[in-house]
Amino acid sequence: MRSLVSRGDCRRGGALLSAPGPLGDPAMPNRPRPLVAGNWKMNGLRRSLRVLGEIEQGYTPGLKAKADLLLCPPATLVLTAAHVLVGSGIAVGGQDCHAKEAGAFTGDIAAEMLADAGATFAIVGHSERRQYHGEKDAEICAKAAAAHRAGLAAIVCVGETQGEREAGKTLAVVRRQLRGSVPEASRRANLVVAYEPVWAIGTGLTPTAADVAEVHALIRDELRRIVGKAEEASVRILYGGSVKPANAKELLAVENVDGALVGGASLLAADFLGIAGAYLA
Ligand code: PGA
Repeated sequence: MRSLVSRGDCRRGGALLSAPGPLGDPAMPNRPRPLVAGNWKMNGLRRSLRVLGEIEQGYTPGLKAKADLLLCPPATLVLTAAHVLVGSGIAVGGQDCHAKEAGAFTGDIAAEMLADAGATFAIVGHSERRQYHGEKDAEICAKAAAAHRAGLAAIVCVGETQGEREAGKTLAVVRRQLRGSVPEASRRANLVVAYEPVWAIGTGLTPTAADVAEVHALIRDELRRIVGKAEEASVRILYGGSVKPANAKELLAVENVDGALVGGASLLAADFLGIAGAYLA
């Protein structure tokens, strides 16, 4: 597939947010504030917005003190979700965006449109986009730069397939995806990386804590090259793939895991809050 912009354009592109960035605990000034993000994928009708109300109710001051929450419903619900959640402290995001600001791209959605609807994040490069829409690193990088241009934080997803893991290529694949799909102009305020092993998505399978730690350490290291030493430690790196209330505590305790990207379990308020609740203990 032809990429939408040249890699060079993408790597340079992207306006920076002026926000101070997602810094967390003042006692650990370089540690980012955790982010628990829900990706509803192609699920959700207007009546599903009730779940957002339930999540808002469960986002108690105690939990608010510990973690940020984000919900990414299908594009048809972004505007209404942003209205429902206004003032709640819970952010809304899109699941994808186009690299261009506007134009003849039937069915596509620009980052500016997501921002206009009230989104503050956009997921880019999810493995389902890579798999079913043939998206490659250069296009994903252009999408991340588009998110930045629109003032959104980009959640750039990376992760190996089962075959790549079995062939011992996990670290090489994740490194290649990161180098290809994160714009150089990214900063801690507008970049989140999500490590999602493809074989763990929707399967109930998860890597061991040691495997997650190994990949997240590599991502942290690569971020140093991309965003620089001053910023690298405070970019949030999420783990995603079959995160459930039952395994959240163990996965979220792994070094360099700064939150979760949750698919199936974000469709039920109790499950999503059960995962975020891992930060309360
Ligand atoms: P899952 O999906 O939690 O249903 O495995 C994660 C994702 O694809 O973001």
